[in-house]
Amino acid sequence: MRVPPDTVSLADYERHFHARIEPGIRAYIAGAAADGITQQANRDAFDRLRLLPRALADLRGATAHTTLLGQSLDYPLLIGPTAFHKLVDADGELATAQAAALTRTGMVVSAQASVPLEAIAASSPSPLWLQLYLQPARDDTLTLVRRAENAGYQALMVTIDAVVSGVRNIEQRAGFRLPDGVAAVNLQGFRPNAPVVARAGSPVFQGMLANAPTWDDIAWLCRQTTLPVLVKGLLNPADVPRALDAGVAGIVVSNHGGRTLDTVPATIDVLQTIANAVAGRVPLLLDGGIRRGTDIVKALALGANAVMIGQPVLHALAVGGLAGVAHMLTILQTELEIAMALTGAPTVEAIDASLLWNPGGPGTGL
Ligand code: FNR
Ligand code: LAC
Repeated sequence: MRVPPDTVSLADYERHFHARIEPGIRAYIAGAAADGITQQANRDAFDRLRLLPRALADLRGATAHTTLLGQSLDYPLLIGPTAFHKLVDADGELATAQAAALTRTGMVVSAQASVPLEAIAASSPSPLWLQLYLQPARDDTLTLVRRAENAGYQALMVTIDAVVSGVRNIEQRAGFRLPDGVAAVNLQGFRPNAPVVARAGSPVFQGMLANAPTWDDIAWLCRQTTLPVLVKGLLNPADVPRALDAGVAGIVVSNHGGRTLDTVPATIDVLQTIANAVAGRVPLLLDGGIRRGTDIVKALALGANAVMIGQPVLHALAVGGLAGVAHMLTILQTELEIAMALTGAPTVEAIDASLLWNPGGPGTGL
Protein backbone atom coordinates (compact mmCIF):
# COMPACT_ATOMS: atom_id res chain seq x y z
CA MET A 1 0.00 0.00 0.00
CA ARG A 2 1.44 3.33 -1.01
CA VAL A 3 0.56 6.48 0.87
CA PRO A 4 0.12 9.29 -1.69
CA PRO A 5 2.89 11.89 -1.24
CA ASP A 6 0.38 14.68 -0.68
CA THR A 7 -0.68 13.04 2.59
CA VAL A 8 0.57 15.55 5.15
CA SER A 9 -2.34 15.87 7.58
CA LEU A 10 -5.08 13.73 9.11
CA ALA A 11 -7.57 15.35 6.73
CA ASP A 12 -5.49 14.08 3.80
CA TYR A 13 -5.76 10.53 5.11
CA GLU A 14 -9.53 11.03 5.41
CA ARG A 15 -9.75 12.25 1.80
CA HIS A 16 -7.80 9.29 0.46
CA PHE A 17 -9.84 6.91 2.63
CA HIS A 18 -13.05 8.16 0.99
CA ALA A 19 -11.59 7.76 -2.47
CA ARG A 20 -10.47 4.17 -1.87
CA ILE A 21 -12.92 2.38 0.37
CA GLU A 22 -16.20 0.89 -0.80
CA PRO A 23 -19.43 2.67 0.17
CA GLY A 24 -20.73 0.19 2.77
CA ILE A 25 -17.55 0.13 4.87
CA ARG A 26 -17.16 3.87 4.40
CA ALA A 27 -20.67 4.41 5.72
CA TYR A 28 -19.92 2.28 8.80
CA ILE A 29 -16.62 3.99 9.61
CA ALA A 30 -17.48 7.58 8.72
CA GLY A 31 -21.18 7.43 9.50
CA ALA A 32 -22.58 9.22 12.47
CA ALA A 33 -25.89 8.61 14.23
CA ALA A 34 -29.07 10.03 12.70
CA ASP A 35 -28.36 13.43 11.10
CA GLY A 36 -24.71 13.73 12.07
CA ILE A 37 -25.29 16.90 14.08
CA THR A 38 -23.06 15.87 16.98
CA GLN A 39 -20.31 14.55 14.72
CA GLN A 40 -20.19 17.91 12.96
CA ALA A 41 -20.41 19.76 16.27
CA ASN A 42 -17.30 17.96 17.53
CA ARG A 43 -15.28 19.52 14.70
CA ASP A 44 -17.01 22.91 14.67
CA ALA A 45 -16.42 23.41 18.37
CA PHE A 46 -12.67 22.87 18.04
CA ASP A 47 -12.53 25.21 15.05
CA ARG A 48 -14.40 27.93 16.96
CA LEU A 49 -11.81 27.99 19.73
CA ARG A 50 -8.82 30.27 19.20
CA LEU A 51 -5.42 29.99 20.80
CA LEU A 52 -3.70 32.92 22.46
CA PRO A 53 0.04 32.20 22.49
CA ARG A 54 2.76 33.46 24.82
CA ALA A 55 5.80 34.67 22.90
CA LEU A 56 9.42 33.79 23.67
CA ALA A 57 8.69 31.35 26.47
CA ASP A 58 11.70 29.37 27.71
CA LEU A 59 11.42 26.12 25.78
CA ARG A 60 14.70 24.53 26.90
CA GLY A 61 14.04 20.91 27.79
CA ALA A 62 10.48 21.12 26.47
CA THR A 63 8.61 17.82 26.29
CA ALA A 64 5.12 16.51 25.59
CA HIS A 65 5.75 13.61 27.97
CA THR A 66 3.09 12.80 30.53
CA THR A 67 2.02 10.06 32.90
CA LEU A 68 -1.45 8.58 33.00
CA LEU A 69 -2.54 6.07 35.63
CA GLY A 70 1.11 5.54 36.46
CA GLN A 71 1.99 4.82 32.83
CA SER A 72 4.61 6.85 31.05
CA LEU A 73 3.44 8.34 27.73
CA ASP A 74 5.58 10.28 25.27
CA TYR A 75 2.47 12.22 24.23
CA PRO A 76 -0.93 12.79 25.85
CA LEU A 77 -2.48 10.86 22.97
CA LEU A 78 -3.94 7.36 22.76
CA ILE A 79 -5.47 5.31 19.98
CA GLY A 80 -9.10 5.05 21.05
CA PRO A 81 -11.17 1.88 20.74
CA THR A 82 -12.69 1.25 17.32
CA ALA A 83 -14.22 -2.00 16.14
CA PHE A 84 -13.25 -4.30 13.27
CA HIS A 85 -9.90 -3.07 11.93
CA LYS A 86 -9.95 -6.01 9.48
CA LEU A 87 -12.60 -4.07 7.56
CA VAL A 88 -9.79 -1.99 6.07
CA ASP A 89 -6.59 -4.05 6.51
CA ALA A 90 -5.99 -7.80 6.34
CA ASP A 91 -3.86 -7.70 9.52
CA GLY A 92 -6.46 -5.63 11.33
CA GLU A 93 -5.65 -4.71 14.92
CA LEU A 94 -2.24 -6.43 14.68
CA ALA A 95 -1.12 -3.73 12.25
CA THR A 96 -2.56 -0.95 14.39
CA ALA A 97 -0.91 -2.27 17.54
CA GLN A 98 2.45 -2.48 15.80
CA ALA A 99 2.09 1.08 14.56
CA ALA A 100 1.27 2.07 18.15
CA ALA A 101 4.46 0.37 19.32
CA LEU A 102 6.59 2.00 16.60
CA THR A 103 5.41 5.43 17.68
CA ARG A 104 5.31 4.57 21.40
CA THR A 105 1.60 5.36 21.53
CA GLY A 106 -0.87 3.71 23.91
CA MET A 107 -3.77 1.86 22.36
CA VAL A 108 -7.22 0.98 23.65
CA VAL A 109 -8.33 -2.25 21.97
CA SER A 110 -12.06 -2.48 21.22
CA ALA A 111 -14.14 -5.32 22.66
CA GLN A 112 -15.27 -5.68 19.07
CA ALA A 113 -11.76 -6.12 17.71
CA SER A 114 -11.53 -8.49 14.76
CA VAL A 115 -8.40 -10.25 16.12
CA PRO A 116 -8.11 -12.17 19.43
CA LEU A 117 -7.06 -9.79 22.19
CA GLU A 118 -4.21 -12.11 23.23
CA ALA A 119 -2.72 -12.01 19.71
CA ILE A 120 -2.86 -8.21 19.71
CA ALA A 121 -1.03 -8.07 23.05
CA ALA A 122 1.57 -10.54 21.83
CA SER A 123 2.24 -8.47 18.72
CA SER A 124 2.92 -5.19 20.48
CA PRO A 125 5.17 -4.02 23.30
CA SER A 126 3.03 -0.89 23.58
CA PRO A 127 0.90 -0.43 26.68
CA LEU A 128 -2.55 -1.72 25.78
CA TRP A 129 -5.87 -1.14 27.47
CA LEU A 130 -9.07 -3.04 26.74
CA GLN A 131 -12.42 -1.37 26.08
CA LEU A 132 -15.47 -3.41 26.95
CA TYR A 133 -19.20 -3.20 27.35
CA LEU A 134 -20.86 -4.72 30.38
CA GLN A 135 -22.21 -7.93 28.89
CA PRO A 136 -25.77 -9.15 29.55
CA ALA A 137 -24.26 -12.00 31.62
CA ARG A 138 -21.76 -11.01 34.36
CA ASP A 139 -19.83 -14.23 33.75
CA ASP A 140 -19.14 -13.11 30.21
CA THR A 141 -17.90 -9.72 31.42
CA LEU A 142 -15.62 -11.50 33.88
CA THR A 143 -14.28 -13.76 31.14
CA LEU A 144 -13.19 -10.68 29.19
CA VAL A 145 -11.64 -9.09 32.28
CA ARG A 146 -9.62 -12.20 33.15
CA ARG A 147 -8.45 -12.60 29.56
CA ALA A 148 -7.33 -8.96 29.52
CA GLU A 149 -5.47 -9.39 32.83
CA ASN A 150 -3.75 -12.57 31.68
CA ALA A 151 -2.72 -11.03 28.38
CA GLY A 152 -1.11 -8.05 30.14
CA TYR A 153 -3.62 -5.30 29.41
CA GLN A 154 -3.02 -2.43 31.81
CA ALA A 155 -6.44 -0.83 32.18
CA LEU A 156 -10.09 -1.43 31.33
CA MET A 157 -12.30 1.17 29.69
CA VAL A 158 -16.02 0.53 30.00
CA THR A 159 -18.13 2.27 27.39
CA ILE A 160 -21.29 3.65 29.00
CA ASP A 161 -22.89 5.68 26.22
CA ALA A 162 -24.12 2.86 24.01
CA VAL A 163 -26.48 0.63 26.00
CA VAL A 164 -28.26 0.33 22.67
CA SER A 165 -26.93 1.12 19.25
CA GLY A 166 -27.70 4.61 17.98
CA VAL A 167 -29.93 5.38 15.01
CA ARG A 168 -27.44 4.56 12.27
CA ASN A 169 -29.33 5.78 9.20
CA ILE A 170 -26.18 6.37 7.13
CA GLU A 171 -25.10 2.77 7.63
CA GLN A 172 -28.65 1.53 6.99
CA ARG A 173 -28.99 3.45 3.72
CA ALA A 174 -25.69 2.00 2.51
CA GLY A 175 -26.84 -1.51 3.49
CA PHE A 176 -23.66 -2.14 5.49
CA ARG A 177 -23.07 -5.75 6.58
CA LEU A 178 -19.91 -7.20 8.09
CA PRO A 179 -18.10 -9.06 5.30
CA ASP A 180 -17.15 -12.72 5.72
CA GLY A 181 -14.00 -13.11 7.79
CA VAL A 182 -14.61 -10.02 9.92
CA ALA A 183 -16.25 -10.61 13.29
CA ALA A 184 -16.16 -9.65 16.95
CA VAL A 185 -14.02 -12.70 17.69
CA ASN A 186 -13.51 -11.85 21.37
CA LEU A 187 -17.23 -11.96 22.10
CA GLN A 188 -17.99 -15.27 20.41
CA GLY A 189 -20.05 -17.61 22.54
CA PHE A 190 -21.26 -14.83 24.82
CA ARG A 191 -24.91 -14.65 25.76
CA PRO A 192 -26.55 -12.06 23.49
CA ASN A 193 -29.10 -9.52 24.54
CA ALA A 194 -32.68 -10.67 24.18
CA PRO A 195 -33.82 -10.67 20.56
CA VAL A 196 -34.67 -7.25 19.19
CA VAL A 197 -38.24 -8.32 18.55
CA ALA A 198 -39.35 -9.23 22.04
CA ARG A 199 -42.50 -11.26 22.38
CA ALA A 200 -44.40 -8.46 24.02
CA GLY A 201 -43.78 -4.83 24.69
CA SER A 202 -41.10 -2.53 23.36
CA PRO A 203 -38.30 -4.16 21.39
CA VAL A 204 -35.90 -1.65 22.88
CA PHE A 205 -36.89 -1.65 26.55
CA GLN A 206 -38.08 -5.23 26.92
CA GLY A 207 -35.72 -6.56 24.28
CA MET A 208 -32.26 -5.10 23.98
CA LEU A 209 -32.36 -3.34 27.35
CA ALA A 210 -33.74 -6.16 29.46
CA ASN A 211 -30.29 -6.43 31.09
CA ALA A 212 -29.22 -2.81 30.84
CA PRO A 213 -26.25 -2.03 33.08
CA THR A 214 -26.33 0.61 35.84
CA TRP A 215 -23.72 2.35 38.02
CA ASP A 216 -24.02 -0.59 40.44
CA ASP A 217 -22.56 -2.79 37.71
CA ILE A 218 -19.61 -0.39 37.31
CA ALA A 219 -19.02 -0.56 41.08
CA TRP A 220 -19.22 -4.36 40.84
CA LEU A 221 -16.69 -4.40 38.01
CA CYS A 222 -14.27 -2.15 39.92
CA ARG A 223 -14.36 -4.69 42.78
CA GLN A 224 -13.57 -7.61 40.45
CA THR A 225 -10.18 -6.45 39.24
CA THR A 226 -7.04 -4.69 40.35
CA LEU A 227 -6.76 -3.05 36.94
CA PRO A 228 -7.82 0.58 36.79
CA VAL A 229 -11.33 0.93 35.35
CA LEU A 230 -12.22 4.01 33.32
CA VAL A 231 -15.66 4.90 32.03
CA LYS A 232 -16.00 6.20 28.47
CA GLY A 233 -18.94 8.25 27.34
CA LEU A 234 -19.71 10.58 30.22
CA LEU A 235 -21.15 13.96 29.15
CA ASN A 236 -23.16 15.20 32.12
CA PRO A 237 -21.28 16.59 35.14
CA ALA A 238 -24.12 15.27 37.32
CA ASP A 239 -22.82 11.75 36.61
CA VAL A 240 -19.33 12.53 37.92
CA PRO A 241 -20.11 11.81 41.61
CA ARG A 242 -21.77 8.53 40.64
CA ALA A 243 -18.72 7.48 38.64
CA LEU A 244 -16.33 8.42 41.44
CA ASP A 245 -18.50 6.64 44.04
CA ALA A 246 -18.44 3.53 41.85
CA GLY A 247 -14.65 3.58 42.11
CA VAL A 248 -13.56 4.49 38.59
CA ALA A 249 -9.90 5.36 38.04
CA GLY A 250 -10.55 7.71 35.12
CA ILE A 251 -13.26 9.34 33.02
CA VAL A 252 -13.42 9.73 29.26
CA VAL A 253 -15.55 12.62 28.05
CA SER A 254 -16.93 11.18 24.82
CA ASN A 255 -19.99 11.17 22.61
CA HIS A 256 -18.75 8.12 20.70
CA GLY A 257 -17.69 10.38 17.84
CA GLY A 258 -21.36 11.31 17.29
CA ARG A 259 -22.28 7.67 16.63
CA THR A 260 -24.74 7.03 19.47
CA LEU A 261 -27.14 9.81 20.59
CA ASP A 262 -27.31 12.55 17.99
CA THR A 263 -27.66 16.21 19.04
CA VAL A 264 -25.64 15.89 22.27
CA PRO A 265 -23.02 18.64 22.58
CA ALA A 266 -19.49 18.56 21.27
CA THR A 267 -17.19 16.97 23.84
CA ILE A 268 -14.88 19.99 23.96
CA ASP A 269 -17.91 22.18 24.85
CA VAL A 270 -18.73 20.15 27.99
CA LEU A 271 -15.18 19.34 29.03
CA GLN A 272 -14.61 22.22 31.39
CA THR A 273 -17.77 21.69 33.47
CA ILE A 274 -16.81 18.03 33.85
CA ALA A 275 -13.23 18.94 34.73
CA ASN A 276 -14.60 21.24 37.44
CA ALA A 277 -16.73 18.42 38.85
CA VAL A 278 -13.83 15.95 38.77
CA ALA A 279 -11.48 18.51 40.37
CA GLY A 280 -8.38 16.47 39.61
CA ARG A 281 -9.47 13.42 41.60
CA VAL A 282 -9.03 11.08 38.60
CA PRO A 283 -7.50 11.59 35.15
CA LEU A 284 -9.80 13.01 32.52
CA LEU A 285 -9.62 12.04 28.85
CA LEU A 286 -11.52 13.38 25.85
CA ASP A 287 -12.26 12.14 22.37
CA GLY A 288 -14.37 13.29 19.43
CA GLY A 289 -13.08 15.36 16.55
CA ILE A 290 -9.37 15.54 17.44
CA ARG A 291 -7.64 16.05 14.07
CA ARG A 292 -4.84 18.56 14.77
CA GLY A 293 -2.13 19.15 17.33
CA THR A 294 -3.89 22.41 18.15
CA ASP A 295 -7.03 20.41 19.06
CA ILE A 296 -4.98 18.51 21.64
CA VAL A 297 -3.70 21.78 23.13
CA LYS A 298 -7.30 23.05 23.34
CA ALA A 299 -8.47 19.87 25.09
CA LEU A 300 -5.61 20.05 27.60
CA ALA A 301 -6.28 23.77 28.12
CA LEU A 302 -9.87 22.98 29.14
CA GLY A 303 -8.95 20.23 31.58
CA ALA A 304 -8.17 16.97 29.77
CA ASN A 305 -5.06 15.02 30.77
CA ALA A 306 -4.96 13.19 27.43
CA VAL A 307 -7.01 12.63 24.29
CA MET A 308 -7.91 9.72 22.06
CA ILE A 309 -8.53 9.48 18.31
CA GLY A 310 -10.95 7.12 16.57
CA GLN A 311 -11.71 7.61 12.89
CA PRO A 312 -8.24 8.91 11.91
CA VAL A 313 -6.74 5.54 12.86
CA LEU A 314 -9.05 3.70 10.49
CA HIS A 315 -8.49 6.25 7.72
CA ALA A 316 -4.72 5.80 7.97
CA LEU A 317 -4.96 2.01 8.28
CA ALA A 318 -7.11 1.90 5.15
CA VAL A 319 -4.75 4.11 3.15
CA GLY A 320 -1.35 2.93 4.33
CA GLY A 321 -1.68 -0.09 6.64
CA LEU A 322 0.77 -0.25 9.56
CA ALA A 323 3.02 2.41 8.00
CA GLY A 324 0.03 4.68 7.41
CA VAL A 325 -1.04 4.54 11.06
CA ALA A 326 2.52 5.15 12.28
CA HIS A 327 2.85 8.09 9.87
CA MET A 328 -0.50 9.55 10.91
CA LEU A 329 0.43 9.32 14.61
CA THR A 330 3.78 10.96 13.93
CA ILE A 331 2.06 13.81 12.09
CA LEU A 332 -0.23 14.42 15.06
CA GLN A 333 2.59 14.14 17.62
CA THR A 334 4.73 16.59 15.66
CA GLU A 335 1.80 18.98 15.27
CA LEU A 336 1.31 18.86 19.04
CA GLU A 337 4.96 19.73 19.66
CA ILE A 338 4.75 22.59 17.17
CA ALA A 339 1.56 23.86 18.82
CA MET A 340 3.21 23.69 22.26
CA ALA A 341 6.30 25.53 21.01
CA LEU A 342 4.24 28.22 19.29
CA THR A 343 1.90 28.76 22.25
CA GLY A 344 4.90 28.89 24.59
CA ALA A 345 4.02 25.79 26.62
CA PRO A 346 7.16 23.76 27.41
CA THR A 347 5.22 20.96 29.15
CA VAL A 348 1.71 19.55 29.06
CA GLU A 349 1.20 20.87 32.60
CA ALA A 350 1.87 24.38 31.31
CA ILE A 351 -1.13 24.15 28.99
CA ASP A 352 -4.05 25.89 30.66
CA ALA A 353 -7.06 28.07 29.84
CA SER A 354 -4.88 31.17 29.63
CA LEU A 355 -3.77 29.86 26.21
CA LEU A 356 -7.33 30.31 24.87
CA TRP A 357 -8.63 33.56 23.43
CA ASN A 358 -12.14 34.88 23.66
CA PRO A 359 -13.05 34.46 27.30
CA GLY A 360 -16.81 34.14 27.54
CA GLY A 361 -17.04 32.79 24.02
CA PRO A 362 -18.75 29.52 23.28
CA GLY A 363 -16.80 26.49 24.40
CA THR A 364 -14.34 28.27 26.63
CA GLY A 365 -16.70 28.40 29.61
CA LEU A 366 -14.61 31.27 30.89
C1 FNR B 1 -15.97 3.66 17.27
N1 FNR B 1 -16.06 3.93 18.63
C2 FNR B 1 -16.10 2.88 19.51
N2 FNR B 1 -16.12 3.10 20.86
C3 FNR B 1 -16.12 2.07 21.72
O1 FNR B 1 -16.14 2.31 22.93
N3 FNR B 1 -16.07 0.78 21.28
C4 FNR B 1 -16.04 0.47 19.96
O2 FNR B 1 -15.97 -0.70 19.58
C5 FNR B 1 -16.08 1.55 19.03
N4 FNR B 1 -16.11 1.30 17.70
C6 FNR B 1 -16.02 2.33 16.81
C7 FNR B 1 -15.95 2.05 15.46
C8 FNR B 1 -15.78 3.08 14.55
C9 FNR B 1 -15.70 2.77 13.09
C10 FNR B 1 -15.66 4.42 15.00
C11 FNR B 1 -15.43 5.55 14.05
C12 FNR B 1 -15.77 4.71 16.35
C13 FNR B 1 -16.01 5.30 19.14
C14 FNR B 1 -14.55 5.74 19.37
O3 FNR B 1 -13.96 5.06 20.45
C15 FNR B 1 -14.43 7.23 19.70
O4 FNR B 1 -15.27 7.57 20.78
C16 FNR B 1 -14.71 8.16 18.54
O5 FNR B 1 -14.35 7.58 17.31
C17 FNR B 1 -13.95 9.46 18.74
O6 FNR B 1 -14.22 10.37 17.76
P1 FNR B 1 -13.29 10.59 16.44
O7 FNR B 1 -11.87 10.66 16.87
O8 FNR B 1 -13.59 9.42 15.56
O9 FNR B 1 -13.83 11.87 15.92
C1 LAC C 1 -19.54 1.57 16.91
C2 LAC C 1 -19.60 0.54 18.00
C3 LAC C 1 -18.86 -0.68 17.65
O1 LAC C 1 -19.43 2.75 17.23
O2 LAC C 1 -19.19 1.05 19.22
O3 LAC C 1 -19.66 1.19 15.73
